Amino acid sequence: MALLQIISAMAMAIAAPLFLGQPLFTLPVAAQAQWSRVHEIPGFGLGTWRSNGDQAAHAVEYALSLGYDHIDAAHIYRNEDETGKGIADANVDRRYIWVTSKLWNTDHQPDRVEPAIRQSLSDLGLDYLDLYLMHWPVAFVPGDGTELDRETSIVDTWRAMEDLVRANLTRFIGISNFSRRNLNVILDICDICPYAHEFELHPYLQQNDFVNFHKEVGIKVIAYSPLGNTNPIYNGRHGNLPPLLEDPFWKKLADVKGASVAQTVLAWGMRRGTVVIPKSVHENHIYQNMFSLEINFNVLEMYNISQQDKRARMNNPSESWGVELFADLDDHTSLDGNKGQEL
Ligand SMILES: NC(=O)c1ccc[n+]([C@@H]2O[C@H](COP(=O)([O-])OP(=O)(O)OC[C@H]3O[C@@H](n4cnc5c(N)ncnc54)[C@H](OP(=O)(O)O)[C@@H]3O)[C@@H](O)[C@H]2O)c1
Repeated sequence: MALLQIISAMAMAIAAPLFLGQPLFTLPVAAQAQWSRVHEIPGFGLGTWRSNGDQAAHAVEYALSLGYDHIDAAHIYRNEDETGKGIADANVDRRYIWVTSKLWNTDHQPDRVEPAIRQSLSDLGLDYLDLYLMHWPVAFVPGDGTELDRETSIVDTWRAMEDLVRANLTRFIGISNFSRRNLNVILDICDICPYAHEFELHPYLQQNDFVNFHKEVGIKVIAYSPLGNTNPIYNGRHGNLPPLLEDPFWKKLADVKGASVAQTVLAWGMRRGTVVIPKSVHENHIYQNMFSLEINFNVLEMYNISQQDKRARMNNPSESWGVELFADLDDHTSLDGNKGQEL
């Protein structure tokens, strides 16, 4: 009998957080993170860069209510409080969603790293993150500017990020916008190694070798700006290219699939094994993008798409920051005036 009571008490303890959707007690953070039902990063999520104010909150709430289970946030997007409001308003069980945030360049000094994640957690209204990324491999002097802090290395910052996992503030840590060289620096020294790398990837910047390298070393790849030059901030960059959503090759392929170009492009991103995180603040786009999960490609189609790579990078602050960010990757910018490969 005593044994039965113990088993029943244990069952109640497990079921309690789910009772009528209302937690009967709050689990310690470590246990919540450990009990997450999202074991791997979901292959599809909602981006939040340039989602403003109430629009951001509504987009996040709407997406989660539709069944999205992955939100890509960052401190520098200056909307983590609205993103958090959207998460709260959706009233979903925390353990069933994946939330990523990112450490901004002004917080790379080791003693600033934990306060930075705590600020993001507070803004997002969460006890822990699923993934915390070093947003760029570049340290700025603390403050509002972009003056380089040459004393703080990515190794110093990574060591401090490893402590965030040990402190149960995030389940995983990762990197963003790293070159091959910078990635190898981290791989050489890491005790807790990068779970994921988020970088620019879309049909106009496919970086197949780099993606494959991550597969070989077991790092998940998150494709940002998966809709290429659709983000209006990229207007005028690589002006020789058509807007991706009007590209004749993709329009034709989308017709074959009976889908929109956006859906077809996102489906390709997932089919090649990358995680896609399209941003939208419009219900029709948020809804439509979700159905990209249902589109497949055959081998010939995948080959034909690979021939459409334009090696065209849209997001490259190398010149404005005075750092050669992508020196060993496609379409980099050399600070000595020599342009990298560009079409
Ligand atoms: N780690 C990094 O450094 C980094 C850098 C860039 C981006 N990111 C992350 O990646 C996310 C996605 O990248 P992104 O925001 O640059 O660009 P994106 O998701 O490729 O494109 C966003 C643009 O596409 C539009 N859109 C979305 N769905 C559409 C559809 N079905 N049909 C037509 N237009 C559609 C959106 O407009 P509406 O809002 O009007 O729908 C928005 O203007 C970001 O939000 C951010 O979370 C990370």
